[in-house]
Amino acid sequence: MDILIATYNPGKVREYRELLIPLEATPVFPLELGLRIDVPEDAATYLENATQKASAHARASGLVTLADDSGLEVDALCGAPGLRSARYAPGQDADRTAALLAAMSDVPLEQRTARFRCTVVIDSPDGPRYHAEGVCEGLITLEPSGSGGFGYDPVFYLPEHGCTMAELAPEAKNRISHRARAVEAALPLLRRVLAVHGPA
Ligand code: IMP
Repeated sequence: MDILIATYNPGKVREYRELLIPLEATPVFPLELGLRIDVPEDAATYLENATQKASAHARASGLVTLADDSGLEVDALCGAPGLRSARYAPGQDADRTAALLAAMSDVPLEQRTARFRCTVVIDSPDGPRYHAEGVCEGLITLEPSGSGGFGYDPVFYLPEHGCTMAELAPEAKNRISHRARAVEAALPLLRRVLAVHGPA
């Protein structure tokens, strides 16, 4: 059976295809179904944003749906860009990482602590709804490095790995990332929902 992953972000699409391999269900994406639903990401929490995305896509598709909302929280910037990570600066990912590095130009290395956070919500046309969260701790570098992943990966340094998230192989990112941890926590919930909605 199919599970709809409510994202239009090509980086997330690549990661979810791998992350959901352990699931006895096929991930499908809105554009593959001819769906394009723009959900405003204007809520005060990751959970509310992800819930709005999951509910709208579950209603429109009739499928069990997983949505996530995620962001980068930098301690020296009081948690920014946080919920506004995707809209922190106009342009492409590289423009946003450049804006982040510029905002942190006077922050010393030991104060450049940060974390990626991801909340996933699982919904279905007739509920119930579940959620799970994953966090990945790191440091913001002085300059970008690496070409893997997406978003802020080139400036997110992982001390335990000695490289940025963008320098990790995709399989390695999918073992340790905030999204990987949220999905790991969500897998038992997903199996429960899919068992209820699966073929009789
Ligand atoms: P949203 O979850 O679609 O609101 O987007 C979150 C934004 O946070 C993305 O556009 C990226 O800028 C950033 N982000 C989320 N997850 C990651 C990641 O795994 N690596 C790098 N940046 C990320």
